[in-house]
Amino acid sequence: MDPLETGQKFSLRQDQDLDPSLQFLPAPDAKKLEKRPVRHRKLWVAAGLVSAAAALSLLTGMLVWRFHLHRDGALKRIYVGSMSIANQRFLPAYEDSGSDPFVKMASLVSQQLKVMYETKAALGKYFQRSSVEAFSDGGGDSVTAYYRSEFSVPAPQQASADMAVQSLQTAAGSPQSRQGRVLLKPQRSLNVDAVVTRAIDPRMTSPSLLVKKSFNVHVREGGVIRSPGFPDSSYPSSIFLQWRLRADAGHRVRLDFQKLILEDDCQHDFVRIYDSLAPIEENTIAEHCGLPRRSLSFVSSGNVMLLTLVTNEEKNFPGFVANFSQVSLAPPDCGGTLSGDVGVFSSPYFPSSYPPQASCVWNIQVSKGKLVKVKFSKFYVGNDSSDCSRDYVEVNGRRLCGAKDGRTAVASRSNRMTVKFNSDWSYVHQGFSATFEAFIPSDSCPGKFRCTNGLCADSRLRCDGVDDCGDASDEEDCGACSPNAFHCRNGHCVSRATVCDGRDDCIDGSDEFKCEKSVAMTTCPDSSFRCRNGRCLDKVNPECDGQEDCEDASDEEACECGLRPYRSSRIVGGEASQEGEWPWQVSLQLVGQGHACGASVLSSRWLLTAAHCVQDKGSVRHSRADQWEALLGQRVLSRTNEWTVRRKVMRIVAHRDFDRLTFDNDVALMELDSDVPLNQHIWPICLPSPSHRFPAGQEAWITGWGAGREGGVAGSILQKAQVRIIDSSLCNRVMNDEVTDGMMCAGVLKGGVDACQGDSGGPLSVVNPSGRVFLAGVVSWGDGCARRNKPGIYTRVTRYRGWIKEHSGL
Ligand code: ARG
Repeated sequence: MDPLETGQKFSLRQDQDLDPSLQFLPAPDAKKLEKRPVRHRKLWVAAGLVSAAAALSLLTGMLVWRFHLHRDGALKRIYVGSMSIANQRFLPAYEDSGSDPFVKMASLVSQQLKVMYETKAALGKYFQRSSVEAFSDGGGDSVTAYYRSEFSVPAPQQASADMAVQSLQTAAGSPQSRQGRVLLKPQRSLNVDAVVTRAIDPRMTSPSLLVKKSFNVHVREGGVIRSPGFPDSSYPSSIFLQWRLRADAGHRVRLDFQKLILEDDCQHDFVRIYDSLAPIEENTIAEHCGLPRRSLSFVSSGNVMLLTLVTNEEKNFPGFVANFSQVSLAPPDCGGTLSGDVGVFSSPYFPSSYPPQASCVWNIQVSKGKLVKVKFSKFYVGNDSSDCSRDYVEVNGRRLCGAKDGRTAVASRSNRMTVKFNSDWSYVHQGFSATFEAFIPSDSCPGKFRCTNGLCADSRLRCDGVDDCGDASDEEDCGACSPNAFHCRNGHCVSRATVCDGRDDCIDGSDEFKCEKSVAMTTCPDSSFRCRNGRCLDKVNPECDGQEDCEDASDEEACECGLRPYRSSRIVGGEASQEGEWPWQVSLQLVGQGHACGASVLSSRWLLTAAHCVQDKGSVRHSRADQWEALLGQRVLSRTNEWTVRRKVMRIVAHRDFDRLTFDNDVALMELDSDVPLNQHIWPICLPSPSHRFPAGQEAWITGWGAGREGGVAGSILQKAQVRIIDSSLCNRVMNDEVTDGMMCAGVLKGGVDACQGDSGGPLSVVNPSGRVFLAGVVSWGDGCARRNKPGIYTRVTRYRGWIKEHSGL
C-alpha cells in the first residue's frame, strides 16, 4: 500500500477519523468512512462543530491554495506517465514499494525523468519532483514504470509545458509514433523505450479530496472489488481510490462489474478504467457514472489495469461491485479462416468489451459460385466518426464504426470476404457479433423482400414507414395507399378485407384497433408470447429476461425499463422506502390541493394511473388535464429536491368503459406536457405483455403515499409493503364475486398489509428473476383497508396492454 499522499502537497489533510491502514479489500470497513453520520441529539453542538470544521477546512483550503499558487502565480501541474525500460527484467519485489529493488529502480527512473525534463526549456526550470508509484512486467526483458511528476508552472506557461511534456512522449515513442524507438540519453543503465506523460485528470487532484488510497491486487486467483460500504451503505465523499490490477505475464486483466450505481454527473463521481497502472488519459478504457445500461466488462491489452473511483463532497450512491480475473493473452475469437456456408464470429472477448490495441482479420470463404453476406446482430465499435479512424470493422475495404442496430449487413461480390477489426489505444466498447452465410446471387431472399444491402426483410414490412432493412431500401418507392386499401397508422397499406380479421396485418395493430370487440392483436393463444414476426412462444414470461427467444429478438426489445439503481431492498403495514428504490412511482397532485393519487412512469412522456382518480365528481373536474400535476423522482413528498421533476399533464385518456359501480376497467393514461429526464430517480417500469403470468403466491410490492390505516391520513415518506398475488377464484369467494377479469387481487389474507386511500393509481410491482420490475397491477379498490380476508384489488395490467399501446403507442 503506498498512499498517494507521499510527497504530495496537494492533499488537503489526513482525515482524523480515518484509520490510515484502512483497506477496502477484501472486507471494507465502511462505517469508518461513512460521511456525515446522522446524529439526532445535540444538534446544536453538532452544528457548532460543523461550522468550526467548515471554517477550518476553508482555512486549510486557502492554505492549500497558497501552496498551489506560488507568489509568482505559479500553479502546481501534475503529470502522470509510464516509461518502458528495455534492458531490465521484472522482479517480483517491484510490486512492493517498500522493497530495496523497488526503491533502487524508482530512483533510477526519477533521475532519468529529471534528465528528460531538463532537455526542454519549457519544463526544466519548473520541475519539482517525480515519484515512481508502480512497476509492471513489460514482457521479455522489460519493465514498465509508472510515475507522477510535479511541476510549478506559471499560469501563462501551462500550455507550453503541456506541449513540451507531450513532445517528450513523441520523441520517445507514443501511441502515434511507437515505431522509431528513440533512446534518450542513457542514465546509468536505463534503456528507455517508450514514454507517455500527460497532465492528470483535474478531478483527481481536487484539493477537496480527503482520502487518497491505492491498492495493489494480483488478479491470478480472481476475486471481488467493492467500493467502500457496498452494498450496505453509500460510498464516502471526497475520496480518490485506485486499484492497481496485475495479471501474470502473458495474461490480461479482466474486470466485470456486477453493479455500478454512482451519481449521475461524471464531473462529481465516476469510475475510470485505464489500460495502464497510471491514470494516463491516453490509456483510458472507459469512464462511467450514474447507472449504465450496458453490461460493463473490460479486458486489458496487457497484463495491467487501473481502476479508479473519485467522489466529490455530496450525494453519495451505492457504488460498485466488480469481479476480477486473468485471461490468456491470445483472445479465443480474434480472426482466422472461416469456411462452410454459414458461421458466426465476434470481436475479441464478446460480449465483454474488446481490449484496446486489438487487431483481428477473418478470411471468409464460401463455395464457389456463391456470395458472402455478413450480418451484424450487435455492433458497438468505437464512436461514430466519418473516417472511423479509431476503432472500426473493415469489410471489403469499407470501414464501419459507431453503434448500429441489428440490421447492418454487407454482401460481397465474390465467394470471399475479408473482415478486419481494429481497436486503438483508448476507449473500448462492447464490439460486435456477426454471422456470415453463403447465398446464390439470383435467389438471395426466397419469398422475401431483398434489401439493397443484401438483407432479406419480411415482405409485409415493405413500405410500413419503418426502416427494416437498415438502409431504408424497403421504404423506397412507396406511394400512397390505393383507394380500396386500408391506411395503417404506420403508413403501411393493407387490404380492407384484412381489417378486424383478428390478425395484425399492419404490424402496428392499427387494422385491429377500432373493431367492434377489440379482438386481441395476436394470433397466439393467451398464454403464449407473440414475437413481432408473429411467432408464438411457449416460454413463460420471455420478455426482457436477458435471453433472445424470438428470432427477431423482439422479446428483448425496449428492455431498459424496470431497473433501479438501488438494491431492492402510505401503505398499511409497510415501511419507508429508500431513495431511488421505486423510480417509477409518481405522485399525482391536484393543483392547489396536493397529493391525490399514485401513478407509474411508463416512459419519459406517459404515466399510467387509475381511471377512478380522474372522474369528475359534480363540479369537481378531475377529468381535466389542467387540474393535475405530476411529481416524479420524489420520495419525501414534503421535501422537493434537485431531482424532483414537476410536470403539467397535457392529456388524460381514461378507459372509456370504466364502470363507476364495479370499478371495472379502472385504468387511465396521462401524457405529460414535456419529456422528463430519465435517471436514477425517474425510470420506467416494464409493461407486461398480454401473456405475462403473475401466478398466485408470487411476491409483489405496493408503494404509495396513501393512508397508513383505514380512515387514516396520507403520509409524507413513500411507503412500501410486500404482498402476494392471490388466486382469482379464491379472491372472488372472499370478495363476493366482485372481481372481474380485468382485476387481480393481492395482499395478505390475514390482514394488516394493504394499499389504502391515496395509493390508488400507483403500481403493484413484481420483480422478475433477473431483477427487472414489471407493472402487474394498478391500485384500484378494496373493502376498507388491510382487513382480514379482504385483499386489495388491482387493475390487471396484462388485460390492458393492447389498450395502452393503442392510446400511447408504447
Ligand atoms: N380507492 C382508493 C384510492 O382512491 C385505493 C383503494 C385501495 N384499497 C385497498 N384496500 N387496497 O386511493
